[in-house]
Amino acid sequence: MSRRLVYYVATTIDGRIAGPGGESAFFPMDADLMTAMNAVQPETIPAAFRAALGLEGTPNLRFDTVLMGRATYQVGLDEGVTSPYSHLRQIVFSRTPGADGPVEWAQGDPVAYVRELKAADGLDLWLCGGGKLAAALLPEIDELVVKRYPVLAGAGLPLVDGGFDPAAFTVTDSRRFPSGADVTTYRRAGGGGHDGGTR
Ligand SMILES: NC(=O)c1ccc[n+]([C@@H]2O[C@H](COP(=O)([O-])OP(=O)(O)OC[C@H]3O[C@@H](n4cnc5c(N)ncnc54)[C@H](OP(=O)(O)O)[C@@H]3O)[C@@H](O)[C@H]2O)c1
Repeated sequence: MSRRLVYYVATTIDGRIAGPGGESAFFPMDADLMTAMNAVQPETIPAAFRAALGLEGTPNLRFDTVLMGRATYQVGLDEGVTSPYSHLRQIVFSRTPGADGPVEWAQGDPVAYVRELKAADGLDLWLCGGGKLAAALLPEIDELVVKRYPVLAGAGLPLVDGGFDPAAFTVTDSRRFPSGADVTTYRRAGGGGHDGGTR
């Protein structure tokens, strides 16, 4: 099976992944959901929090590569974090070159870049975000795993921030947690491949 590009992301009821200024503190940190997700994809926890969650040294189960837009990477950089997911291959997309360091900078067409990654062997590819990179990569997204929290933002950065480009997906897994959040897996309609559900 070839590698999938999976957009694993947290959203509000109204489809916002952050506030208008990048705010994220309004997203609840629900232990029940986190425990379930850590059992199947512990590598999506940032390196800085892995030890506290007992994940230090845990093997990568689903993903070996994370793809970030420059603005998403910048959130950690502003806090002095240059290698947010040091246990993964980290690729940051930007139209301008970034400084040498622990991440790979990708400046070409994201679609062509991802097609090359898919052609190589490896675990699945985690599209971390944000919405602008997701829009650029929309044709290559094989699956979405959407953590939807019971909160309205009213305004903010959308899950996909691009032009009108409808694409059909099929729900392959959905799980509601006692906290009120749900995690739904959507697979591109007509797509094949291995199972990548949340349980
Ligand atoms: N809720 C969640 O799970 C979640 C997940 C991830 C991120 N976020 C949030 O999302 C926000 C950032 O999202 P965003 O949509 O504003 O930005 P983004 O997608 O993270 O990054 C946008 C930047 O990526 C680069 N880029 C985008 N399309 C490109 C293309 N076709 N070719 C080359 N480079 C390209 C450009 O960088 P240059 O300007 O350098 O050229 C662009 O400015 C942050 O606040 C972050 O915290 C939330």
